[in-house]
Parts: sequence; structure tokens; C-alpha cells
Amino acid sequence: MGRLKELRRFVDEVLNRMEDPDKRTSAIAHLYGVSLSATILANKRGLDPEIAAMAAMLHDLHAYKSGSYDDHAHLGAELARKVLNELKLTSPEETDAICSAIYHHDDKLVVDSPMDELLKDADVMDHCFKDISKPVKEKEQERFSRLCEEFGMN
Ligand SMILES: [Fe+2]
Ligand SMILES: [Fe+2]
Repeated sequence: MGRLKELRRFVDEVLNRMEDPDKRTSAIAHLYGVSLSATILANKRGLDPEIAAMAAMLHDLHAYKSGSYDDHAHLGAELARKVLNELKLTSPEETDAICSAIYHHDDKLVVDSPMDELLKDADVMDHCFKDISKPVKEKEQERFSRLCEEFGMN
């Protein structure tokens, strides 16, 4: 089994334990949606699509597991490190890249490393394209218009 599939199996098990069916559905849709966006962005930007997809699958897991978004990026990076150390799917460098992206993913107004930026952008793509009838959040507007430009969708 590929390592992305193995990680997804682990994440699916955590998500399937969520009691509220609506929250569970949107959690699954979001992690898989961000994962798809991350793969597309990684291919476009010459970054590792598998690492990008793995970071996306884990990025909000702490929030879903705990039911709280308080400091979920930083706590999520800690959780991701624990999971990746347990599953032994990644090298230490890959684990660091994934955890860094998760740690920074809520800092949408600042610019971090290319993989950190990729996860922020993939998150914004999922938020904005999941329902285009909804207005784009103010803190995501600038990033969203840069993404539209990158994809020639002005
Ligand atoms: Fe998040
Ligand atoms: Fe997210």
C-alpha cells in the first residue's frame, strides 16, 4: 500500500469516530478537498505532491479530534509529528516539512516556506471553491486573488 493511502486509512479511522454526522462529512470533505488542491499546486510549483497531500490530510485533524480550533495549527503540528513518528512513513526531513506546513497554515497573512505557502493556498482553494456563491473571507481575499492569477482565472 502506498504511504498516502496508509496515512488516509489512519485519518479515516479518526474521522469516522466523530459523532456529529454533519461535522464528520465536512471534515472528510475538507481534508480530501485540501489534499486534492495541494496535489495540483505541488505539481504546478514543482514541489513534492505526496508530501503536500500528506500535510493536507493531517492539517486540521487536531481540531476535528478535539472539537476545538483553539491554537489548532500549532497543536495540529504536534499531533502530526506523533502520527508520522508512529506510522514511520516519512523521513525526518519529510516529517519536518509536513509539520512546518501544518504549524504555519493558519498564518494566512504572512509568507513562509514554499511548502508552508502551498498548504495555506490549498486550504484557501478548498474554502473558496467549495461553494462559490459564498463571499470570500476578508483574510483570504488577497491569497485567493493571487491563486486566481496563478491559474489564469481573472
Ligand atoms: Fe486549519
Ligand atoms: Fe483547513
